[in-house]
Amino acid sequence: MKTSTEILHIKVDDRDAHPSVTPIYQCSAFNADSAFFYSRKANPNVSELEQVVASLEGSEYALAYSTGMSAIYMVLELLKPGASLVINKYIYGCSYKLFQRYAARIGAHLAILDLTTAEGLKDLPANVDMVIFETPTNPFLKDIDIHAVSRAVKQHNPQALVVVDNTWATPIFQKPLNFGADISLYSATKYFSGHSDVMGGLVLVNNETIYNRLLEGRFYSGTILTPNSAWLLRRSMQTFNLRMEKHSQTTASMLNYLRELPFIEHVYYPRIDGQQLTGYGGIVFVDIRPDLVPFYKTFTGALKWFGTGTGMACVTSMVAQPFSGSHASMTDQEKADMGIEKGLVRLCFGLEDLEDLKEDLLQAFETMESKVDQKHSLDPA
Ligand SMILES: Cc1ncc(COP(=O)(O)O)c(C=O)c1O
Repeated sequence: MKTSTEILHIKVDDRDAHPSVTPIYQCSAFNADSAFFYSRKANPNVSELEQVVASLEGSEYALAYSTGMSAIYMVLELLKPGASLVINKYIYGCSYKLFQRYAARIGAHLAILDLTTAEGLKDLPANVDMVIFETPTNPFLKDIDIHAVSRAVKQHNPQALVVVDNTWATPIFQKPLNFGADISLYSATKYFSGHSDVMGGLVLVNNETIYNRLLEGRFYSGTILTPNSAWLLRRSMQTFNLRMEKHSQTTASMLNYLRELPFIEHVYYPRIDGQQLTGYGGIVFVDIRPDLVPFYKTFTGALKWFGTGTGMACVTSMVAQPFSGSHASMTDQEKADMGIEKGLVRLCFGLEDLEDLKEDLLQAFETMESKVDQKHSLDPA
């Protein structure tokens, strides 16, 4: 035997290693008789994450995907050509665009309804096949009664699927399947990860047939999460509760402070009814005073502790303008229909000290206001 052959086949005997945490199974293939078979189908790190998440949600099944968008895409794959799809009017911009494009491609009828009101529910199409919404919604954090939607949808078509994008509420504060939803899904890139270092998507279901269809779809599309990302997400699960508690406390303590700042006209915060939604994390929206809007970049430039990246719902605080960020892919008219203007700002509170965050916001708002004053002093009398 030559060294060149030998080095290819050396493998440590780890049967007695008993590691204290599951190592990363960075391998594409397993032995032919392994239950895992091939990492496009299943992988120990992915399976462990799925078990943890199913336990958190209280669901029968969980599936992990490469991103939140791929999770949504694979749920759409449950639709047949010509189906009837309903989405809520207030929704993440990329999801909105995906629903439009997907429906057009498969010849589905897409209805955009305001499910945050009882009137919106009255317009449900009789032949509805799938309803997708976020609650609290992005933007504006409006709430939707999952049970009421599920009941109305099933009255029209018992086979129709009710899908809740639960990314912002998280399973810590809301469990959609307990309120009649068929599918609960997440961008795990947000609070699940919590550290802006991994992308992922999750889908939770109780129905075995739907699970098997999704599992098959994931295998053939190759949208499964990587072992490395699964390992990182699994580790993040160990502090999930604690992180959410801290996000929640900081945000609750910020509310009155924000409401009293003279730079802010309105603060959006969800309705916590204690039943469907039992708490809330760290994302709020504010309308800033119209005269400050042109100086938004001055505000973000002055902030010391708030990042401006696309990420959010993580350990560090973030600021964003939905108009040019999360909803940028929509046309100006679509944004206007959703009520998104340039003065709408999203603040995500991380795990920093509350007083540091308050001070930082105050000094950045004051810097922004000084620009308005400068502009006025330069205006011709
Ligand atoms: C509510 C919601 N759903 C889905 C997504 C998409 O997730 P990802 O960016 O992980 O693909 C996002 C991303 O911001 C989101 O906010």
